[in-house]
Amino acid sequence: MTEQVKELNSRVMLSDDRQGEVFPEIGTDKNFKKSFYIESYGCQMNFSDSEIVASILQGQGYGPTKEISEADLLLINTCSIREKAEDTVRKRLRIFDKHKRQRPGTLVGVLGCMAERLKAKFLEEERLVDMVVGPDAYRDLPALIAQADDGDKGVNVFLSREETYADIAPIRLNSNGVTALISIMRGCNNMCSFCVVPYTRGRERSRDPFSVVAEARDLFENGYKEVTLLGQNVDSYRWESPDKEFEVSFAKLMTMVADIHPDLRVRFSTSHPKDITDEVLYAIRDYENICNYIHLPLQSGNSRILELMNRTYDREWYQNKIDRIYEIIPDCAISSDMITGFCSETEEEHQDTLTMMDYAQYCLSYMFYYSERPGTLAAKKYADDIPLEAKKRRLSEIIDKQHSISYDRNQQDIGKTYRVLIEGISKKSADDYKGRNSQNTMIVFPKMEGIEVGDYVNVFVEEATSATLIGKIVS
Ligand code: SAH
Ligand code: SF4
Ligand code: F3S
Repeated sequence: MTEQVKELNSRVMLSDDRQGEVFPEIGTDKNFKKSFYIESYGCQMNFSDSEIVASILQGQGYGPTKEISEADLLLINTCSIREKAEDTVRKRLRIFDKHKRQRPGTLVGVLGCMAERLKAKFLEEERLVDMVVGPDAYRDLPALIAQADDGDKGVNVFLSREETYADIAPIRLNSNGVTALISIMRGCNNMCSFCVVPYTRGRERSRDPFSVVAEARDLFENGYKEVTLLGQNVDSYRWESPDKEFEVSFAKLMTMVADIHPDLRVRFSTSHPKDITDEVLYAIRDYENICNYIHLPLQSGNSRILELMNRTYDREWYQNKIDRIYEIIPDCAISSDMITGFCSETEEEHQDTLTMMDYAQYCLSYMFYYSERPGTLAAKKYADDIPLEAKKRRLSEIIDKQHSISYDRNQQDIGKTYRVLIEGISKKSADDYKGRNSQNTMIVFPKMEGIEVGDYVNVFVEEATSATLIGKIVS
């Protein structure tokens, strides 16, 4: 594999191939009476939830540890989005089992979407698991732990219509001290036919905007310079004051956060093509610190397939959205998610996804082949009839397409200067910093005296691969 392909592969990495992240910066704090170890899989919402779980546990005297072998409580925050994601979790549970056997009394808890999907069945399938806790039941963890300590296994997979954990201050895990995630809503009211999320995360609900702003302000006061506002469908964020006197839309919420300070960058994910409004686009255009980057999943470029997917837009609608974004924010970067080999997809329909990618000129895409999920509309209504070989070949075609678009786009950045927020030291060289521009492209450049992680610098781009720009700091 060439370097470029390797880099691209890591950039288009499927989320279920992602290694479970543990939190290496954290050492065991001896002041805590017990310790917990947590691994997270899946989307950013899950990573953000793990920080809420850490906060709840800390209140119970449990401190985080990076050492699986010394933890009293082993937690895995799981994802169900594709079959492979669930396979990864089961493999990790084998490792947890081993530790539990070596250290009797250790408790094992399964959290998140797979817990919600399988419920009590999990305890039958995985005999060494002590508790199964769905995404809306984390406040019940202390009770479930106490119960498990007494030898009783527990399940709480109650899905709430109100829970937003608004009052819980997350403990930042695995933090670079510069960028942080903030959940602004939970659940999803869309019914994309392929998707398990509405079943694992329940109904959509928006979090109190003042608690979002307070969390962002607190982060900024603690040195953070970028927040990503998270939801499955951020454009349908809507909050009404209890007296119904005023409403806050997503665009309004973004500007409330952006108003905290011009040096606090605001990002957001995920936007749904049917819901993103001009109001949001104008906010991005008008605020220097709201990043010029939109994750706008296409899924398929073919209108018939989009209808089967129940995405509620067609090819033409999506194309118009892309036009509108580039019209209002000409230097906006757009990224996407794509699924190949959805039920009954023909070769011609697959070609429509490739041509749409050319049209949209995505900076990056997360690409998957279709994985049937039990209980979804597609599983009930349509045959999963595209052979695995064809699904994989179509996937490799869209990966190649994205590779060449990313490469060409990045080549066009050579000679430009971008304002970059330094996020850390480059993985490849301790002499280099890494950071992102507003468009979310990673830029690597040599360190400079007096410049630190968390600073903004102007970087002149000299070289580019498909995944990274390489440059130097200019005044
Ligand atoms: N809320 C986001 C996506 C959440 S899931 C949105 O609406 O865009 C992240 C991505 O996983 C989806 O965009 C989709 O591309 C992919 N995905 C979801 N279900 C899948 C399935 N059954 N098989 C393959 N990919 C799937
Ligand atoms: Fe799933 Fe669709 Fe909701 Fe995204 S918008 S989480 S793809 S149902
Ligand atoms: Fe996975 Fe649940 Fe997120 S299924 S993608 S962890 S919402």
